[in-house]
Amino acid sequence: MNVIIISASPNDDGLTAACATAAAEGVRLAGGQAEKVCLNDLQIGMCRACENGWGACRNDHACQTQDDFQALHSRVLRADAIVLVTPVYWGEMSESAKAFTDRLRRCEASAGAESRLAGKPVIAVAAAGGTGGGMITCLASIERWIQHVRARTFDLIPVNRWSREYKLVAIQEAARTMVAGLQIQS
Ligand SMILES: Cc1cc2nc3c(=O)[nH]c(=O)nc-3n(C[C@H](O)[C@H](O)[C@H](O)COP(=O)(O)O)c2cc1C
Repeated sequence: MNVIIISASPNDDGLTAACATAAAEGVRLAGGQAEKVCLNDLQIGMCRACENGWGACRNDHACQTQDDFQALHSRVLRADAIVLVTPVYWGEMSESAKAFTDRLRRCEASAGAESRLAGKPVIAVAAAGGTGGGMITCLASIERWIQHVRARTFDLIPVNRWSREYKLVAIQEAARTMVAGLQIQS
């Protein structure tokens, strides 16, 4: 099983990175392959809402704006499961997470039941390192995204500075359990 772990923080040694590492370890413990991607290392711009707002992606299910999106879109489609880890900024996902998930939603939600993400399990992690607030609003927005692309919410995990130690264990265990379940199904 191949799990793509998408992290969306500019910091490579912060809370988000620690959560992504915990998820990768869980995948490996279950015998899966973890493929880590740091969105902030890529050039993925925001959705340009082409034409009248419904661009060509509505029918083509591909984004016309050429940047690093296309390659990552393909990798996400190939993966058996997704882990999305974002820092909490203003009670929301980070800008890099928003840019990528917005464009992915345009391409896949427009396919309805034919979304290539349909049924794909997702673990989303919201890492709040400041006041510790805003994790739930961030995860609520990610949950709507999961529903729009018809993926499957495996778990939504809030983590902050105070819960870090035991939530890293929970993230690892969530990833391990998700991969183990996929292996049983296959
Ligand atoms: C622009 C901005 C907005 C932020 N908003 C919040 C917030 O709403 N709640 C919170 O607890 N932390 C907030 N933080 C702090 C980050 O969630 C915290 O730094 C987190 O650890 C970032 O992940 P990192 O360690 O991977 O950088 C914010 C940080 C930035 C830069």
